Amino acid sequence: MFKFSFYDGDKSAGSDGDRPTGHPVTRLAIQEHPVPASPLLPSNEVSTLSLCGHQIKLLNGDQVILRLEREGAAGDLSLALKSHTDLIPDVYEGGMKLWECSQDLVAYLDAHVPLAGLRVTELGCGAALPAVFCLLRGAAAVTVQDYNREVVDHLTIPNMRLNVTATQLAGCRALSGDWGALAALLRTERRPGADLVLTSETIYSRESWARLLEAVDAALAPAGSALVAAKTCYFGVGGGTRAFEQAVLEDGRFSSEVVFATQQGLQREILRLKRC
Ligand SMILES: C[S@@+](CC[C@H](N)C(=O)[O-])C[C@H]1O[C@@H](n2cnc3c(N)ncnc32)[C@H](O)[C@@H]1O
Repeated sequence: MFKFSFYDGDKSAGSDGDRPTGHPVTRLAIQEHPVPASPLLPSNEVSTLSLCGHQIKLLNGDQVILRLEREGAAGDLSLALKSHTDLIPDVYEGGMKLWECSQDLVAYLDAHVPLAGLRVTELGCGAALPAVFCLLRGAAAVTVQDYNREVVDHLTIPNMRLNVTATQLAGCRALSGDWGALAALLRTERRPGADLVLTSETIYSRESWARLLEAVDAALAPAGSALVAAKTCYFGVGGGTRAFEQAVLEDGRFSSEVVFATQQGLQREILRLKRC
């Protein structure tokens, strides 16, 4: 079973991923990040992933964090770097690493979803592999969002700039901050909703599901659908696809259907949510 390496700097913190005692509960506010409409040339921090007929260039998140630390710019990522953790609840949520369900999502999109012309939003994007793939397949407009602004500025946006043209970048939008604040912003803006909302490895913590569903609801066009790629069970944290399906049912806004499942390695699935 999959288990996150959680911050345990405070020994009173539970091993179940609870926030360490005394840690501030303040969640990050929403922030808009300019997306330069100019492609980026590969550097020695970039490697190439061959996936679904594309050679996708991606920055190595570990190297990026180390560079930011050297430059004194690691911000909220510093604590994670020092304590060698995958994530620290409400501080750093693991966006600098590329998680395996994002590749499941790309393979599913490749096989089942014609992306040309679609408006796409990726929530909790981190490296934004699915968003980059959507752009490579001709999505008309892509919005990406991650919790941490350092992730958006130093990983998400560079990964987009490494792979797509200036014209495509001009149609992209990047945001950082918590899903609750994102939902509030999107509801005030009243922009056209996304045809497709994507999210990968974002349902490990039950505590954030209500805000994630709120963000999906605010981002999605009336006839759109959301694809949630995740592990069946995040051991010790309480998250996973079965429990999330139950939460979706209780929330009442969406229907949920398993559209992909694999037993290879860790059990992983993709759920498709549609408005009821
Ligand atoms: C485990 S990482 C997965 C990253 C990426 N989707 C992937 O699959 O490689 C979880 C992602 O969800 C985002 N996230 C977690 N909780 C969040 C919240 N409350 N609001 C906004 N984003 C959140 C994090 O910033 C992080 O990028």
